[in-house]
Amino acid sequence: MTHRIAVLISGNGSNLQALIDAIHAGSLTADIALVLSNRADAGGLARAQQQGITTAVVDHRDYASRADFDQAMIAVLDRHGPLDTVVLAGFMRILTPAFVQHHAGRLLNIHPSLLPRYPGLNTHQRALDAGDAEHGCSIHFVTDELDGGPLIAQARIPVRANDNVSDLSKRVQASEHLLYPQVVAWRAEGRLRLTDDGVELDGQILPAQGYQWHHPDGAEHCSGIGARQR
Ligand code: GAR
Repeated sequence: MTHRIAVLISGNGSNLQALIDAIHAGSLTADIALVLSNRADAGGLARAQQQGITTAVVDHRDYASRADFDQAMIAVLDRHGPLDTVVLAGFMRILTPAFVQHHAGRLLNIHPSLLPRYPGLNTHQRALDAGDAEHGCSIHFVTDELDGGPLIAQARIPVRANDNVSDLSKRVQASEHLLYPQVVAWRAEGRLRLTDDGVELDGQILPAQGYQWHHPDGAEHCSGIGARQR
């Protein structure tokens, strides 16, 4: 049976687009059963609708508490289930333990830093302020700890002398668009799972920082999955 995924977004949806493109290119075999947003104005909703993908909006402002909001999202996701993987792609709400537990071992997030450095917001500015030589993105299984779950993969890009936030953001996003479809493809191919011992890829437990992908040119010259402009 085809791997069924839901993608949760809050904004532009360029990572969602990378997944859609990978499905079209044949490098990811999966059905996007639902794109769910907490914002009706998220640009990613139009990207999904253009492809005929079912969308839903659960606006967090309509709920008195985080718990109520998460229960409403669980209800919508369950209606479109069963789901093999739930993909957070620029979803900017903190999830409750109840939501995380409901999707335990099936919930992935992408974060624009080399975790455990810079959980939370403003990751590019923080990397620049720290004078880091390297920056990048991380994909991890979601646990109750914010941006703290077991790492699956990281893409590393060099920080150049005159980089500003916009430069870094562009190159990190380019790396995200390559890495996320690959990681979701690992799930779809049954190669990636969360075990009590850590993250397992092809039967081997990965090191604590996950699979390391490094591109010497900083991702913007990459060919392959997701290299198109988004
Ligand atoms: C991505 O860069 C992703 O890493 C980040 O939001 C962006 C969404 O872009 N996620 C977080 O900061 C989560 N903490 P997109 O909507 O174009 O995919």
